[in-house]
Amino acid sequence: MSERAKGQATSESYAYKYARLSSDAAKEVRAAVLGSAVANGYTTVAQADRLAGLLRLGPGMRLLDLGSGRGWPGARIAERTGCDLVSTDLPLLALRDARVEVVRSEGAAAVVCADGRLLPFRDACFDAASHADVLC
Ligand SMILES: C[S@@+](CC[C@H](N)C(=O)[O-])C[C@H]1O[C@@H](n2cnc3c(N)ncnc32)[C@H](O)[C@@H]1O
Repeated sequence: MSERAKGQATSESYAYKYARLSSDAAKEVRAAVLGSAVANGYTTVAQADRLAGLLRLGPGMRLLDLGSGRGWPGARIAERTGCDLVSTDLPLLALRDARVEVVRSEGAAAVVCADGRLLPFRDACFDAASHADVLC
């Protein structure tokens, strides 16, 4: 299977999951279990905050969140550190929600539809990368 076809398959598989994640019941479960209604992986708020501390980011620095889903945990890390953020994933349903999340931080933010195996960025343009619950 070509890399492009793999990306398409990933996008379709997750689009189905994201379509089911927007119910009020699903949001309540995520908020209760993970501490955030945005997350759809297994990273809790406490773990996202620990990541924010470990990455040593700050204003003027740039984080790449790979497989960000609906903006998690990149948006939380950017909010805590003031760094700039680029969130990437494949399903448009997820990225639409991510757009709402990433604008909450102080720094600049962008949402990019991109396959983690074929990233459209030049080398060395990020200070750190996060990928929570993502197997590309
Ligand atoms: C379990 S979700 C986790 C989402 C988010 N990081 C979180 O913790 O809530 C896994 C995400 O990885 C994305 N993903 C999987 N393979 C990918 C790839 N090759 N390129 C970009 N995103 C990918 C999926 O589309 C999905 O949104």
